Amino acid sequence: MKDLLRTADLSRDDVDMLLDTAARFTTHPLHATDALAHQSVAIYMTKPSTRTRLATETAVAHLGGTPVFLRGDDLQLGRGETIADTARIISGYASALVVRTFKQSDVDQLGAHASIPVINALTDDDHPTQLLADWITIREVFGADVSGRKFTYVGDGNNMAHAWLTMGAIMGAHVVAATPAGKWAPDAAAVSAAQAIAATTGATIEVTNDVEAAVRGASAIYTDVWMSMGDPEAERTEKLAALSPFAVTEKLMALTAADSIFMHCLPAHRGEEVEAAVIDGPKSVIWREAYHRRTTIQAILYHAVRGELKGRL
Ligand code: CP
Ligand code: NVA
Repeated sequence: MKDLLRTADLSRDDVDMLLDTAARFTTHPLHATDALAHQSVAIYMTKPSTRTRLATETAVAHLGGTPVFLRGDDLQLGRGETIADTARIISGYASALVVRTFKQSDVDQLGAHASIPVINALTDDDHPTQLLADWITIREVFGADVSGRKFTYVGDGNNMAHAWLTMGAIMGAHVVAATPAGKWAPDAAAVSAAQAIAATTGATIEVTNDVEAAVRGASAIYTDVWMSMGDPEAERTEKLAALSPFAVTEKLMALTAADSIFMHCLPAHRGEEVEAAVIDGPKSVIWREAYHRRTTIQAILYHAVRGELKGRL
């Protein structure tokens, strides 16, 4: 597999290899400083980023390469140059392209026309690099055997909810998404794709509106912002009202397992999707997750440039 375009593309072997390599980069950040020597990695983003940009630029530096950051309006793409032409041009200069944008189909097109690996650094539909950071954190806390454990996403049925269900399916885990019904539920196509993977791995995928049942006995609660990048501001009041029963409170955390953790991809809005007492409390592993954005992106770049990702099919 040349690219990492979506979470569902990853095989279990890919994830295990990436998490093992990321663990090595955790203890020895500079153990492969010539992997990208005299090479560049282009990072193209049409949405803001704190973690993913920093993680990618520092990962490239640790691998001995040079990151080239391109903001949305820097490229001729905004003036009508095609995605296909842009992909070909970037392929002539860089060894990989890391891209954050709105439409998944734009990332897919970049992948189809680039000769170098294209890595999805967040679209409206998915966030694969985040899930690797989340799962190395889960592995650090609970070990590799997660049987009998339940991992619950609570909140908006957005890109993170899709990625959460998909990666849980790949890992053979019991994953749940507790979201409002209707407009802010996860996309049906994303849920059925996760279910199709689960059928081959023994995972259990649940989507529900019953937040208390969803978190009861859970080993982890994961949440995300209620207004994502690109969400229409006109819907804010309606959306926040629909999501208010899904706030992660101390009361909700009290229903989880004794050894449970609280997870969040960040950025967070304390007092909205999560209470400050939870995200800043003893069960929170948010700083470890954020730290692992670099170790995991370093692992993705290391293996993708060497052509070592196999893919699920
Ligand atoms: N979690 C995450 O992707 O953060 P940024 O938007 O800051 O990159
Ligand atoms: N759902 C959020 C995730 C941010 C990392 C967004 O897309 O804005």
